[in-house]
Amino acid sequence: MNDLAGKHIVLGLTGGIACYKAAELCRALVKEGATVQVVMTEAAGQFITPVTMQALSNRPVYHSQWDPRETNNMAHINLSREADAILIAPASADFMAKLLHGRADDLLSLMCLARPIDQVPLLVAPAMNREMWANPATQRNVAQLQADGAHVFAVGSGDQACGETGDGRMLEPQELLEEVIVFFARKSLRGQRVLVTAGPTYEAIDPVRGITNLSSGKMGFAIARAAREAGADVTLVAGPVHLPTPRGVRRLDVRSARDMQQAVDAEVMNATVFVATAAVADWRPANAAEQKIKKDGSGQAPALTFVENPDILAGVAQGARAKSGALYCVGFAAESHDLLANAQAKLARKGVPLLVGNIGPATFGQDDNALLLVDAQGTTELPRASKIDLARQLVAEIARRLGKKT
Ligand code: C5P
Repeated sequence: MNDLAGKHIVLGLTGGIACYKAAELCRALVKEGATVQVVMTEAAGQFITPVTMQALSNRPVYHSQWDPRETNNMAHINLSREADAILIAPASADFMAKLLHGRADDLLSLMCLARPIDQVPLLVAPAMNREMWANPATQRNVAQLQADGAHVFAVGSGDQACGETGDGRMLEPQELLEEVIVFFARKSLRGQRVLVTAGPTYEAIDPVRGITNLSSGKMGFAIARAAREAGADVTLVAGPVHLPTPRGVRRLDVRSARDMQQAVDAEVMNATVFVATAAVADWRPANAAEQKIKKDGSGQAPALTFVENPDILAGVAQGARAKSGALYCVGFAAESHDLLANAQAKLARKGVPLLVGNIGPATFGQDDNALLLVDAQGTTELPRASKIDLARQLVAEIARRLGKKT
């Protein structure tokens, strides 16, 4: 993926043990297509060498405001003018205090002060001991930095290099990468509250057996991630899957179709968009046995009877919020053939304004997919791509339709 293609990022390292994570972060940014110019403070040089950072960024590292390599001797101006963002990771408590006061006694702080504030955003990833993080001085500085327009990322929690445990760890490189991608994403769903269902449901036969559907949940999780990137407040109702929760997304785990319906009913009152990607089991055993059903030696299989599960999407689409236009509903259709005809039929049957078709067996468990969007205006094909790419395109299509509606 090249989510940061064309972006030029100045990666500033300040003194802290989390400098070891900055190496991996630099690599991840480059892998996503960004060009990275590393600038280090003297203290950062105590934790990691410029050689490592040069090798990973493929550019010489800057650390001095007197760097003779710049013909005009103004590294702070030249480097900051080229940047799409300055990312300070790790940002020490001391460096944040410095930024706050507009001090400029080394290249990195000088550059932050000299950057065109409306064109070059300042992203700050704090990293420090938990007491330093909790100190009112640091918290005051974070609040003031935000008020001054800097984007301060959250900190992680857990074991710290000093042996203590608590808040103040720098986010992991992959988490920071995601945050940077989110930062640059177009906020087409800002102000929207998106509810997504994902994964299969599991319908118990007895305490050790059940029936389920083939669904990895990857498409729904990608949609939740893309909606959050686009600025929405996202709740994800997930059936039993083993996928990490996308950052910034609220997740509710459920098991059966009826659990999922209950969670959706409780959440949908607050939602403005509902995207149903879950592969909900159509039927469940009429009476789940309380104890494991044993073989009785007769060679006879137990007779199971099934009842139909509620259609969660159709129920929501018929509800008052959807009918009044306060809630925009999107359904999915996983088909094995005749995608267009089946998707059109499902659009009408479910009573939703947008139905997204895909060929089920071609996408189950895969990282890529191809989608066919069907609405009253016609069809739009989203050709085969990664699920996150498709999710972003789908989010843009939903945002476009919401824009037309208002
Ligand atoms: O009827 P079918 O299962 O093919 O419909 C698929 C769409 O309906 C998907 O959006 C799915 O999440 C939703 N659905 C639902 N509750 C069901 C069955 C399907 O929300 N019981």
